[in-house]
Amino acid sequence: MVKITFIGHSAFKITGENHSILIDPFISGNPVSAFSDLKADDILVTHAHSDHLGDSIEISKKTGARITAIFELANYCGEKGAKARGINIGGKVPFSWGSAYWLPAAHSSGTPDGKYGGVPSSILVNIGGKSIYHAGDTGLHYDMKMIGEFYKPEIALLPIGGFYTMGINEAVKAAQWLESKKIIPMHYNTFPPIKADPEEFKAEIETIGKECVILKPGESIDI
Ligand code: NI
Ligand code: MN
Repeated sequence: MVKITFIGHSAFKITGENHSILIDPFISGNPVSAFSDLKADDILVTHAHSDHLGDSIEISKKTGARITAIFELANYCGEKGAKARGINIGGKVPFSWGSAYWLPAAHSSGTPDGKYGGVPSSILVNIGGKSIYHAGDTGLHYDMKMIGEFYKPEIALLPIGGFYTMGINEAVKAAQWLESKKIIPMHYNTFPPIKADPEEFKAEIETIGKECVILKPGESIDI
């Protein structure tokens, strides 16, 4: 069994039989983050913005968890004292718990102190026989159709807040292209510019025959 816990914003913890993963662990400074057990084997990061890189470096230094991220961002984390591994778009990355792919996102990526963070990414996680797609921060882009056709993620975590990323209408189209059965909205209502109604998104997702699971910070689903 695999458990997905929403920490808040775009931060998730995914727990498999014997391992756990943090994705984009933005905890301190996150007005909506709920307590979650931050002990994990791996930290996966989509891009360098502070609301995604978040506490990754501190958690790695404190717990020994390894960060995997796009090459330039991983180097930055390594320079700051974290345990980090640099990868790049499209390669299958092996893990003790399965595998993951870093895939495209239509966004930007700079570190909190203004350095180039490499390209922004989305992440497809394969764990415990399940495939989970975290879209990162992104506008709607046509590679999502390729990801749907080729990788067929069962579950998609999609930003709906608009302003910095796609909003509800684009996320509904993304859900169609990704061919995922179950959709979890993220990246909304953390800050005033990204206000969105997840119930409106859920209603739209249901009209295209898919399931939408709205998680409050701290809530989990078993998949
Ligand atoms: Ni961003
Ligand atoms: Mn963001």
